[in-house]
Amino acid sequence: MDSIAYVNGSFVPLSDAKVSVLDRGFLFADGIYEVSAVLDGKLVDNASHLARLERSVGEIKLKLPETVERITELQKELIARNKLANGLVYLQVTRGADTARDFPFPKGEVKPTLVMFTSEKDIINAASAKTGINVITVPDIRWERRDIKSVALLAQVLAKQAAAEAGAGEAWMLEDGLVTEGGSSSAFILTQNDVIVTRQNSNAILPGCTRKAVLALAAERQLRIEERAFTVTEALAAKEAFITSASSFVQPVVAIDGKQVGSGKPGPMATRLREIYVEFAKATGV
Ligand SMILES: Cc1ncc(COP(=O)(O)O)c(C=O)c1O
Repeated sequence: MDSIAYVNGSFVPLSDAKVSVLDRGFLFADGIYEVSAVLDGKLVDNASHLARLERSVGEIKLKLPETVERITELQKELIARNKLANGLVYLQVTRGADTARDFPFPKGEVKPTLVMFTSEKDIINAASAKTGINVITVPDIRWERRDIKSVALLAQVLAKQAAAEAGAGEAWMLEDGLVTEGGSSSAFILTQNDVIVTRQNSNAILPGCTRKAVLALAAERQLRIEERAFTVTEALAAKEAFITSASSFVQPVVAIDGKQVGSGKPGPMATRLREIYVEFAKATGV
């Protein structure tokens, strides 16, 4: 059965959910998106995602067509209408559909497009959380404002397709010999002396909401953290590696480009951080 999507004020069957070919999201990737996890019917860390949404739209001089409070209500209504227990809510806002294709912002009053839909995903019981994933490395060919969660994802499409073709679960992107992040995740290692290392936030990476929450949860537990870039060589010499994202929470990385990381099995730190994050997600869902 068709799930229900939200398009510009209406709830409609997903197969009837349509936007104009003149939509600037379609023509120019002139839009922003967010993905929030849903656990037991509740949104996980959603305020953090909507705060990042507000920041991203601000950076491209786009105004949200609804308040964050109203967007939260709409997300909840969509979850209820779809009877979604576990999965994801995808949200996209674009600069709307003008009357012609023209690069500068529309001159007249063009309402931004707001679209949302859901998908089912059992993140907690994902098999890959138990086995760990392999990652491949690819050059990071993206633009210089990766801190903006733009819908221009062609570099990640190509990176993740290369990963899929190699039988890997994620692609780690490299710039100047350093790992920036995963195609759709933040990248971490645990050094031999038990320091959790992940790249510092800057224009070079997306400030991951799960990254932020995991770092805060780790800090509360007095775990040692360093926010800095690392090389693949350092990752291969590390005790553990893992990724974080809203759609996977924390996932162990057991090999990079076919070379084993640590024991080649999910490590205790990644496993522990995953448990801690799941506990947080369950306790704070709205
Ligand atoms: C490039 C990139 N980095 C990191 C992340 C993880 O961010 P979050 O934890 O907010 O899902 C994503 C998520 O899609 C991403 O696309």
